[in-house]
Amino acid sequence: MSVQLPYIQKSLLALGNHQYGAKRVIPQPVFEEEKIIHNQIERVFDENLFIESLREKLLDVYLMEDAMDILFQSLSLRMKVDRLGIAFVDYQEEKIIAEYGVHVDGTIRLGPGFEVPFKSTSLHELIMIKQTRITPDIEQALTLNPASASLRLLHQEGIQSNAILPILINQTVFGFLFLSCKQKNYFNEQHISFTTKLLLEIKGLLNRAYFSKLVFSKLTESFAQLVDKKDNSTGDHINRMVQYSVLLARALKKQPLKEGYEIDEKLILEIERQASSHDIGKIGVPDAILKKDGKLTSEEWVVMREHPVIGANVFKDLREGLKIFDPDFYRVAEDITRYHHERWDGSGYPEGLSGLAIPLVARIVAIADVFDAISSKRVYKNAYDLDTTFNIIKESKETHLDPYLVDLFLNERENIVHIYSIYGGLDE
Ligand SMILES: [Fe+2]
Ligand SMILES: [Fe+2]
Repeated sequence: MSVQLPYIQKSLLALGNHQYGAKRVIPQPVFEEEKIIHNQIERVFDENLFIESLREKLLDVYLMEDAMDILFQSLSLRMKVDRLGIAFVDYQEEKIIAEYGVHVDGTIRLGPGFEVPFKSTSLHELIMIKQTRITPDIEQALTLNPASASLRLLHQEGIQSNAILPILINQTVFGFLFLSCKQKNYFNEQHISFTTKLLLEIKGLLNRAYFSKLVFSKLTESFAQLVDKKDNSTGDHINRMVQYSVLLARALKKQPLKEGYEIDEKLILEIERQASSHDIGKIGVPDAILKKDGKLTSEEWVVMREHPVIGANVFKDLREGLKIFDPDFYRVAEDITRYHHERWDGSGYPEGLSGLAIPLVARIVAIADVFDAISSKRVYKNAYDLDTTFNIIKESKETHLDPYLVDLFLNERENIVHIYSIYGGLDE
């Protein structure tokens, strides 16, 4: 080592005097040991330049999806990564939720909204030990663990090996980055160490983007719960209708592609996070009308029917105020809120839209909302039993509700009854 000291000294001096952006001049190595040192210096320099360019690309990025796309492109320049995914840990609900994925072929099966409970995934161990895990052979892993839905979906995407890197904030794992490759035995320690360095650059952004998304969704939900308590003394309406909506959305996703019914996991996740907001406009309806024990007069109905527009405009204002960050901010919440009282035959409000002109999210939520309104007690009515409720929903095909979606909803009867029972529906 002492023999190499002059080489190291000269190299350090050259690096110290190096101007960023200029061609670096490190003394040429002569001996084998010097070549090893030279290569390592070159590698560190390359990596730093690479990280610097990633930092520049991320300067104007706000959305997690954009940050992930940039990370994917950057990683692809240095290694064979065919898929990049990110999932976040929900400690309250004890589950891990996929938030975004990008695949070289464009086909993502394990996409946003895919979730697994802690107890059914080995990722739970990684949360504890906070270490990276490489799966060199997905096919073999699937043979050993045939019940794993995530391995199966990755396999269907053509993935043969992957690496999972925990993302830490304050020594707590708040998410995972998934690197995948269509080749077996691909990832090694060098790939992991390089990705870890890039992750350090991007994790603050990912954390902030996810945090703000979650804050807005939790705030909306809390506010929706408050409004719901004012409207429905029975409570739990929001929980049930969100669950019914998600159930129907998932049933739809399993169907062959159909025009006017295009749905993916990301939209399902948005429905899950934003359906609760459908009635927030009721905050603008006087209590004398909202809580009236009896039928509303036609004048009172006029006021009551303003609630979709009052609520939707809150989201419209928020979106317009924040559109430089995200042009689609709260768009799903706005569509659900504005159009959940439209009717399939065009006789609804506020705009009298009909058929497929009503946004899909609103057609889905309308079925869930109507089903729960009929099957629960309200100030103006008693709860109908489930058989009667299912019959009323069936009869609302073509007139009030989307007939195709109603059929899918009715096919889910067993799951609906389950949700109804766990969220207190049976007590009403
Ligand atoms: Fe409503
Ligand atoms: Fe409702």
